[in-house]
Formats: sequence, C-alpha cells, structure tokens
Amino acid sequence: MTEKLAIVGGTPVRTDGFPAWPCFGEPEEQRLLAALRSGAWGKLQGTHVAQFERQFAEYHEAWYGFAVVNGTAALKIALLAAGIQAGDEVIITPYSFFATASAVVEANATPVFADIELETSNIDPASIEEAITPRTAAIIVVHLGGLPCDMDAILEIAQRHNLTVIEDACHAVGAEYKGRRVGAIGHLGCFSFQSSKNLPCGEGGIVLTNHKHLAERCWSLHNCGRVPDGKWYEHHMLGTNCRLGELQGALLLAQWERLEEQIATREQNGLYLDQRFAEMDAVTPQRRTNACTRHGYHIYSLRIDPARWGLPRDVPRDVIVEAIRAEGIPALAGYPIPLYRQPAFLKTAFGPYTGYRDVRPELDYVKTDCPRCEILSTEQGIWIEHRALLGTQRDMDDIVTAVNKVFENRGQLQGDGQRSERASDSSGRARGHAPSTTAALPDRI
Ligand SMILES: Cc1ncc(COP(=O)(O)O)c(C=O)c1O
Repeated sequence: MTEKLAIVGGTPVRTDGFPAWPCFGEPEEQRLLAALRSGAWGKLQGTHVAQFERQFAEYHEAWYGFAVVNGTAALKIALLAAGIQAGDEVIITPYSFFATASAVVEANATPVFADIELETSNIDPASIEEAITPRTAAIIVVHLGGLPCDMDAILEIAQRHNLTVIEDACHAVGAEYKGRRVGAIGHLGCFSFQSSKNLPCGEGGIVLTNHKHLAERCWSLHNCGRVPDGKWYEHHMLGTNCRLGELQGALLLAQWERLEEQIATREQNGLYLDQRFAEMDAVTPQRRTNACTRHGYHIYSLRIDPARWGLPRDVPRDVIVEAIRAEGIPALAGYPIPLYRQPAFLKTAFGPYTGYRDVRPELDYVKTDCPRCEILSTEQGIWIEHRALLGTQRDMDDIVTAVNKVFENRGQLQGDGQRSERASDSSGRARGHAPSTTAALPDRI
C-alpha cells in the first residue's frame, strides 16, 4: 500500500513514545537515601556493593565478582588478571564498542581482529582459529546485543591453544547459553552498568570469575595492588583504584529488583518480533542460535539486504534508519565502523602503550579486513533500542508496521543530502542509547 513516509512529511506510524530508559522510582530513592545517610559511601566501608557483588556473581554461577567503575575497567582488570604481557596478542571481534579493543591496548597487548558471522553478529570461531599465532594469549568474545557466542567451539579452540577466554558480556546480563548464564562460562567475564545498559547505575561494571587465582589478582588489581588481609599502605602489584562506589551499589540493588521481569518482557517481545519479521521481506533479524536459551536483548538487531531494497547508492542504510526513526521507532545504525578502522587504530595512536612494537613493529590496521563485519557495519546493520522491547505487543506491531512501511515505500527515500530536520533532530536526542554525536567541549568548565 502506498503511504507517505514520515521522513518526507507523512504521518508517523507512532507518535506515542516507547518506555523511557532508565526506569526508576521509590525503590531507587529509598536505597540511595539509605546509602547516603549511612555516611559509608565507599565500597570498603559500606555494604551495598558487597551485597550486589554476591548477588550478581551467584546469579551468574560465578564464585567471585568484583564491582568496578565501568565495563572498560572490568575488561582491563580481566586482561591484567589473566597475566597478559607486552607483545601478547588478544583476538577480538571488530564489531563491538571501542572498549573491547582499547582495553587490550591498555594492557600493552596487541588486538588482532577475527571476523564475525553475518547472521549472528558474533565472532566466528573459524576466523578465531585462523588468527591464532604463537603470540596469542587470549580471546575476548562479545555476546553481541545479548546473543551468546558459540562458547563450546570457542572454549575448545582456547583449550587446544592454551588461551584465556574473556567474555565481554556488557550487552548480555541475563543471557543464557544452553541454560547457563553467560559471563562465567569463560575464564573471566565483564559487564557494564553504564546508563544505556540493561542493568544501569550511571557508570559501573563487574568482573566475574570461577578461578581463585584469577580472583586474587582481580581483587588486588582493582584495589591499588593491595592483598587481602594485607596492610593498607602495602602494595604488592601495580593495581589501581577502580572500586565501585556505594551510591552506585545502592542503585544497582534497586534496579536488580526490576531485572527479571524486564528480561522476561524483552524475551517475549523479541521472539514475537522474530516471528513477525520472518513473515516479511524487508529485514532479517539476528539469527537466534539453538544454544541461546535466553537472549539478553540489549539490542534487537536486524539486517537489511540491499539487493532486496534495490535503492540507489546515495540512499544508504543510514537513510533507512532515519526513515524508521521518523516513523517513531528508536532505531540506530549499530556500530558503523569496524574497530580496526577507528582513527585510533588506523593511526596506531596508542599513547604510551607500545607493547606491540617489540614483536610487531609493522603493525598496520590499514591492512586489516574483515569483510563480513564491513558489510554489517556499513551496509546492513540496524538496531532497535532495548527499551522499545519493554512495550506491549501492540508496540511491537508498530515496530513491524513502521519497518514494513519504509520498505514498501522505499521509492520515497531521498539521498544523503536531503534528510529531514525532524529525523536528525530525534536521533540527536536519543535517550536510552547512544546519541549520534558527543557533546561539544564547552569553552570553559
Ligand atoms: C560491548 C561493550 N564492551 C565494553 C563496554 C564498556 O563499558 P563502559 O561504558 O561501562 O566502560 C561497552 C559499553 O558501552 C560495550 O557495549
């Protein structure tokens, strides 16, 4: 049916918003006030962070959990705990947030990129195998959007080559692989509690492990190199202070109470969307593997097939995303640049971290090419924010209707230069997820 798209002035499918993110109310206020009034604002004095660490670790069937200031710090602590040395290589996916790669550089090691599987967006075990060299020490896998990676295959490769497996589970709280929650399936697991995440506290993170020797190192590394039962001014290794604060811990305990119900709602709506989109030609949802017994749904991700859309070259995926946004759906273009093509990597702008030079003086990411990641990043990937999956089934129908409307009326989409004010305006204001640009540096603070 011909309908005028909202991006060219038509009526949007949806004018009501989707649930706002983060959700908060009385429980958050009460816990925060209790933490405030206790006067014990640091993890070492208070009880909130300790309680959260226990709960979170137990929920993930992990023996140990160390709450830290953010997911990036969690990754760095995990790498250092694993004993990564200057010049070691760590295999990672190029389809992730920058921190997955920057943490490796900050551990003075070299990120080596393995390609993804286009259908799942997750790292491809066969590509990991190809990337292994005698210098490979670890693999970081990212459960993209909350879909567990192929952990059996990855652990088998790791065992054969004696590699540490770190799960970057920042998208994947509550996700399950063959009935087991992700994050403690590998040697170490890292989560983020940053504002957009499914369990948010503003900024925060945690490292999980089931291995006592790794736990001892994590404890020390996030706590200034101290040792349990050691003296306060005695530092046994080069740790840092990245302990999570009590106010964040209090917020997490309150958010925790909402988590299971939110996961169940997203799961139900995600499965419903999969089924509805399967009936249409417009898009292909991320392939949910049989091993995924529960999806984390930090992101509901889709792919467009450019051949099916048949649009001219000057109407790229980003215009489709803007058109879907204009219909009132919180859509994003996903990670638009493979990590190895980030300017910091192209320029090897690694600051003081020169560990790679000893073994790879020729390191040049310009030569790195992961074709499937290129396709997903630049041509096909579309994300829907997880807060939309907290809506009703009718809200899901609106998502499907909007995507289908844009597909059916794609002839109205115009080239890059003619995007509507309305669409770019709304993408800049995205609340639950990443805004399109960062804020400008103020003239002065
Ligand atoms: C996959 C992934 N890894 C790591 C991080 C880093 O977490 P944080 O922002 O808490 O430092 C993020 C957060 O955006 C992420 O999405």
